[in-house]
Amino acid sequence: MKYHVKSLKLADEGKKRIDWAEREMPVLRLIRERFAKEKPLRGVKAGCCLHVTTETANLMITLKAGGALVTLCASNPLSTQDDVAASLVKHHNIPVYAIKGEDNKTYYSHIQAIIASKPQLTMDDGADVVSIIHKEQPDRLKEIIGGTEETTTGVIRLRAMEKDGVLGYPIVSVNDADTKHLFDNRYGTGQSTLDGIIRATNVLIAGKTVVVAGYGWCGRGMAIRAKGMGAHVIVTEVDHTKALEAVMDGYMVCSMAQAVKTGDIFVTLTGDIGVLRGEHFEKMKDGAIVCNSGHFNVEIDIPALKKLSKNVREVRAFVEEYTLKDGRKINLLADGRLVNLAAAEGHPASVMDMSFANQALSAEYMVKESKNLQKKVYPVPKDIDVEIARLKLKSMGVTIDALSPEQVKYLASWQEGT
Ligand code: ADE
Repeated sequence: MKYHVKSLKLADEGKKRIDWAEREMPVLRLIRERFAKEKPLRGVKAGCCLHVTTETANLMITLKAGGALVTLCASNPLSTQDDVAASLVKHHNIPVYAIKGEDNKTYYSHIQAIIASKPQLTMDDGADVVSIIHKEQPDRLKEIIGGTEETTTGVIRLRAMEKDGVLGYPIVSVNDADTKHLFDNRYGTGQSTLDGIIRATNVLIAGKTVVVAGYGWCGRGMAIRAKGMGAHVIVTEVDHTKALEAVMDGYMVCSMAQAVKTGDIFVTLTGDIGVLRGEHFEKMKDGAIVCNSGHFNVEIDIPALKKLSKNVREVRAFVEEYTLKDGRKINLLADGRLVNLAAAEGHPASVMDMSFANQALSAEYMVKESKNLQKKVYPVPKDIDVEIARLKLKSMGVTIDALSPEQVKYLASWQEGT
C-alpha cells in the first residue's frame, strides 16, 4: 500500500487520541455499527480530502466499516495531526497522504494521489479535489458517481461551478445541514479558534478588544465565546442584516478602518479575500495579534504585511512577529491559515460527531441515489438532518415533548383565530 505520512512510529499515540475522540462521537458510532452490518458502501472507492484529525479518523473508520475503499489526504497543509495519519495507515490500512507543514507542492501532490486512486465518490473540505479533477483531469469525471462537501467555502465554489454549467457530478452540501452549520460552524469554530489563539500566544482574553471580521455562523460563534471570556468584541460586516443582528446581539459594529485603532486581537472569518490589508496594518496598535479562521489563507494580505515590515521572526510556535518600519510589531498566527486547526486541534469531537454523521449518511445517500440526481449541489435530505439531531439529543439523555394530535391539527388549520 502506498502512503505518505511523517512517521509510522507515531501511530500508537494517534490510536489513543482517535479512541479518546470516539467517546464523544456517539452518533457516528451508531452509524458505524449499522454500516459494519449492512455494508452500504461496499466496494465504493472514496477519495477524501479533509483535515486529518482524530475526528476525521473516526469518519474514515466508519466509511471503511461500511465497505468503502478509502484514501485520505489533507485539506490544509497545516492541519494534519501526524500521529493520526500514522495510525490510519498502521492500524486501519487506510492510505493517507498528509504531513503537517507540507509545502504547497507536496500538498497538491497529495491531492493528485487521491485522484490517482480513481475515486467514485469524493469527500472534500474546501472543494480542492473537485476543482482539480475538473480543471486537470476531466476524463476522471465519468467514473465519479457523486461527492460531498464539508464547508461553506467549498459549497460557494461548487455553486459557482453549477451556475457556470461545469459541475460534472452531483454533490451533497453537508455544510447546509442544520446539524452541521448551527453547531460545527458556531460552537466548534468559537471554541477551537479561541483555543488556537490561546495555545499559540497564552494571552489573557479578558479585557482585550477582539475584532471579529464576518458575522456568519463562524463569526457568531467566535464573538459569543470571546465575549464569554471577558473580551470587548467588535464585529465588522459587509452585510446590512448581519451587521444589524450583531448590533442587537450587543456587539459594537464598525468598519475595519475604525476597528483597527482599538483592536488587540483580530480574527477573520469571512471566506473572502483581503479582509485585513496594508491600510489596516498601518493603523494597528503595537503588539496587535492577527489570525484567520476562514477556510483559505487569503483573508489576511500577508504580502502587504511583509512589504510594510523591516523584519520578521518567529517568536513562538505559530507566532510570527512582523516589525513595521516605524517599529510597531504585529503578530501573525499560523501563517494566516486556519488558526484553530494549525495551532490547536480543530473543533471538538462532540460537534464533529454531527458533521461527520452527515458526511457518512450523505455518502450512503449518494451511493443509493446518485443515478436519480443531476449534476447539481443538493442539500442533505431533511430526514437525515433531523435523525442526527434526534440521536444526538438521545445520546445526551435529553427528552423533548411531542405535539398532541390536537396541536398537530391546529398547526395544519387556517380557520381558527382568536
Ligand atoms: N474542521 C474543523 N475542525 C475539524 C476537526 N476537528 N476535524 C476535521 N475537520 C475539522
